[in-house]
Amino acid sequence: MSERHSLWGGRFTAAADETFGEFNSSFDFDRRLFSADLKASIAHARALKRIGVLSIGELAAIESTLTAMLEEAGNALFASEAESEDVHSFIESRLVAALGDLGKKLHTGRSRNDQVATAFRLWLREEIDRILHCIGDLQTSLINLAERYENAVLPGYTHLQRAQPVLWAHWCLAYFEMLRRDRQRMLEVQHRVNILPLGSAALAGSGVSIDREEVARELGFEGVSRNSVDAVSDRDFAIEFTGACSLILLHLSRLAEDLILYCTAEFGFVTLSDAVSTGSSLMPQKKNPDALELIRGKAGRVFGRHLGLLVTMKGLPLAYNKDMQEDKEAVFDSLDTTRDCLIVARIVMDNLSLDEARAQRAATRGYLNATDLADYLVRRGVPFRDAHEVVGRLVLLGLNTNRELGDLTLEEMRAATDVIEADVFDALDLENSLSGKDVIGGTARNRVAEELRVARELLEQQSKL
Ligand code: ARG
Repeated sequence: MSERHSLWGGRFTAAADETFGEFNSSFDFDRRLFSADLKASIAHARALKRIGVLSIGELAAIESTLTAMLEEAGNALFASEAESEDVHSFIESRLVAALGDLGKKLHTGRSRNDQVATAFRLWLREEIDRILHCIGDLQTSLINLAERYENAVLPGYTHLQRAQPVLWAHWCLAYFEMLRRDRQRMLEVQHRVNILPLGSAALAGSGVSIDREEVARELGFEGVSRNSVDAVSDRDFAIEFTGACSLILLHLSRLAEDLILYCTAEFGFVTLSDAVSTGSSLMPQKKNPDALELIRGKAGRVFGRHLGLLVTMKGLPLAYNKDMQEDKEAVFDSLDTTRDCLIVARIVMDNLSLDEARAQRAATRGYLNATDLADYLVRRGVPFRDAHEVVGRLVLLGLNTNRELGDLTLEEMRAATDVIEADVFDALDLENSLSGKDVIGGTARNRVAEELRVARELLEQQSKL
């Protein structure tokens, strides 16, 4: 009988079809859970010992065999054993090969259904730490980039039409905020990942009364699942994770899109480093933002994984169904892609340069100070709607005569409304436009400096976690 059948040989008379065997196997990818499953198996063995299922000597033998396997992890040691159905049966078969009948005792009071959920959660909990780290690194490069061009100004856009000037640092901080939420979200997901299902067995609960809370403590879980049927069929944590990854990628994709635009000849605000750009095989002049385009493209891939997992789960009757084996690749791929994109985005940001003069020029062309003129009129008692109308007419005059608002004469402006005085030119000035946005979260220099300080503090705290 092949190894595959040692898990359920008794009931079966014929061997599995070879093609089906390959189709059924998850070993190729779930070997990533190798260490996590071993740690959980050791904790389970200890729990069995506490209730007398294993003797001290038996536990010692099982524990040392599993620990030895743990130490081997990372070597390509088991490439030859790929015929195992999954990493869990692989570990068990290795244990039986090493210890004979004793190895067969480990599966007492446990099923692969609670085993897989446990290993998956344990593994994911740790991987989330790494993602949090990558988010923090990108946040740091955004703040560095903001400070590198502390005085720089950028045209802000709505509808991709020039709207109002903002500080470059303010734009950087916008993405910092998104990543701050991403971090919080991941931390929340991590809490819900960190619940122990082991002891739920196949679906009804373990037939031997292991102390689940003790197992949870030993493995560092924050709590134990409260319903065995739910515990073996719940993949909310995986869906939440791919959802949190999706939002990270959504943010990175928007960052990529902004920069792809900003590095065109049409905008010309930023230059990407050669290190993250490619050329054309045909057009010698080309320098393409492939790193950013790939980040934008991979967002679609991660959203697809998230949606795929939702659809896989939606029609499943309680409790475990083999459909759920599809959860691994969705999570693994989302994780790898998200981590890679965070790292590449950081490299892009670390090496990006801003053409401050050009960005500033763009921020002073195209009537970005029209709202400041309306605000000026409001300060002189004109109701905002009327002010809006008057300024609109002045913009039209500027458009027709190819001039900015600041190029109009005082007489021309006073012809529109006589509340305008010579100090109007101060109101139209770029610096005054910025300093006028003096609210929490506004782009006034003092406010942005304060947010940068807070951001630095936050990064400092995060780095200590
Ligand atoms: N490889 C399976 C998975 O990832 C493990 C659980 C199998 N359980 C079962 N009853 N067939 O979901």
